[in-house]
Amino acid sequence: MEKIAIASGKGGVGKTSLTLIIANFLKSKGFKVGLLDADIHGPNLVELLVSENFKATIKNDENDNKFQPQLINNFVLNSIDFVIDKENAAIWRGPLISKAIKQLYLNTNWGKLDYLLIDMPPGTGDAYLTILDSLGIEKILLIAVEDEFCISNLHKTCSLLSKLQKHPLGIIENLSESFSEPCSPIKSERIKKEFTDEILFVLPRLSRKDFYQEVLNLDKLRKYIPENFLK
Ligand SMILES: Nc1ncnc2c1ncn2[C@@H]1O[C@H](COP(=O)(O)OP(=O)(O)OP(=O)(O)O)[C@@H](O)[C@H]1O
Ligand SMILES: [Mg+2]
Repeated sequence: MEKIAIASGKGGVGKTSLTLIIANFLKSKGFKVGLLDADIHGPNLVELLVSENFKATIKNDENDNKFQPQLINNFVLNSIDFVIDKENAAIWRGPLISKAIKQLYLNTNWGKLDYLLIDMPPGTGDAYLTILDSLGIEKILLIAVEDEFCISNLHKTCSLLSKLQKHPLGIIENLSESFSEPCSPIKSERIKKEFTDEILFVLPRLSRKDFYQEVLNLDKLRKYIPENFLK
């Protein structure tokens, strides 16, 4: 099973959305995909996938006392959202965050998966140390937006990664507003200049309505993802 963390420096750049877009891409290629929501303070992977009223409670498997994950849109999914009330987890401090992430990762019956995509919170905090250091996840995709704050925060994440001796697979540029022709976004010169990691592909900014549709069912954005992505 390939385990890939979807990370960024700044919040709100599209980690959760890209986790789902990549999951849809891999599913369309016939792969079995699991999703781990590692954003304990702000889990919204589930909200994006299902309607507001959905409330699942994760059951423990009687035989091995592990979480039985949810199966939603054919993705095998676990999130703190299933385990306790969001409001409770929102005030947890570092050690509890680490513990929760470890439990979700290690104590879930993931079954036979080709890929496990891990939706990271923003930043460089405890979740990053837990996932990348304690749990030893090696593959990381960085999400970047051509924006002053996003770039400066991404440098911080990159310096954490280099301290942990992790080498990202590359950068996915999101929310691009630069086009060479109407529908072909171009890679940001600034991101190219400031980071050694390659920009793997660029997604344009879509209207909110279109974008939500894409997250559920990849269609218009598929052409921007190279066919050999993650091969
Ligand atoms: N390419 C895009 N076009 C239009 N809207 C987008 C695009 N990418 C992301 N968004 C919107 O930007 C917002 C933030 O996206 P998302 O929640 O995926 O970011 P995030 O990095 O996971 O945020 P957080 O750090 O808070 O977890 C959402 O409302 C999402 O719909
Ligand atoms: Mg998110």
